[in-house]
Amino acid sequence: MSDAVYIGNRIYLGKDSSVSDVGSALVTGASGGIGLELARIHAKRGGDLVLVARSKNKLRQIKENLEQEYGVSVMVIGADLSDSKSPQKIFTATEIAGVQIDTLINNAGFGGHDLFHERELKAEQAMMAVNMVSLVSLTHFYVAGMIARGGGRILNVSSVAAYMPGPKQSVYFATKAFVNSFSQAIAFELRPHNVTVTALCPGAVATQFAKTANMENVAVFKQARSAESVAQCGYRAMQSGQLVAFNDAKLNFFTRIVLPLLPRKTVLKFSQRLMDKQA
Ligand SMILES: NC(=O)c1ccc[n+]([C@@H]2O[C@H](COP(=O)([O-])OP(=O)(O)OC[C@H]3O[C@@H](n4cnc5c(N)ncnc54)[C@H](OP(=O)(O)O)[C@@H]3O)[C@@H](O)[C@H]2O)c1
Repeated sequence: MSDAVYIGNRIYLGKDSSVSDVGSALVTGASGGIGLELARIHAKRGGDLVLVARSKNKLRQIKENLEQEYGVSVMVIGADLSDSKSPQKIFTATEIAGVQIDTLINNAGFGGHDLFHERELKAEQAMMAVNMVSLVSLTHFYVAGMIARGGGRILNVSSVAAYMPGPKQSVYFATKAFVNSFSQAIAFELRPHNVTVTALCPGAVATQFAKTANMENVAVFKQARSAESVAQCGYRAMQSGQLVAFNDAKLNFFTRIVLPLLPRKTVLKFSQRLMDKQA
């Protein structure tokens, strides 16, 4: 029987909780940006890792560095998460290797800037597959073992975008709203099983994200936070079983308290302005 207790936005785990050990973490999108920093934090704590991304060579280099620096064991899996078969393949690979995943970090994701009707449908479909479908599938595969072992941690990297519709990034914002809704619902379902689920909602972060999304000239990225600071905030929130985590107190207040009070049209104007490119 679980002794996890929910108070407000946090879960407090009992003294003999089995999720207090570091254990192994699987991190998607670990070849750079926030994912790499999350992997580094876990390795620094002495936890073994399974790293997933398309760039296998980058992952191999990261494996070498982390193993040397922290004395942990790192497995790398090259996989394209826009392929619906990838989550099953990843799960099978970790099962065959006998790696038990106690911490699942669904971080891989990307955006894409422009008017919806002018964007390639294929790019939107790949975005939905990576940001939502792979996250749901991996969660489904790994949560069963966590439940059976009496506990686990899941961190889903969402975004402040989850809290508003995003003209010129319509599909990206919608995928993050999905991540937030899904994460909180299953967090509630998983309470009796000692499995915590945290949605991390950063604002702009200095990674390859803006370049990939064709957003390098977008003003918000001028005040981007470091990937390291965002990862630290997310990892800490995951460890304390927080439901939703913001890395910026002002952003938290504005997004959760002010935005819902504004008329929808004002929110849409504000959101579209956030996506405007500078000359
Ligand atoms: N940067 C921001 O401003 C910001 C703000 C809020 C939320 N976020 C979220 O933070 C998460 C991490 O993004 P980031 O900022 O660290 O961006 P990033 O530097 O572009 O890193 C994205 C990671 O996802 C992986 N990835 C992308 N497409 C993939 C695919 N099809 N299959 C497998 N892996 C894939 C990339 O690896 P490969 O290219 O090697 O596959 C890379 O490791 C994303 O979910 C993003 O939505 C970012």
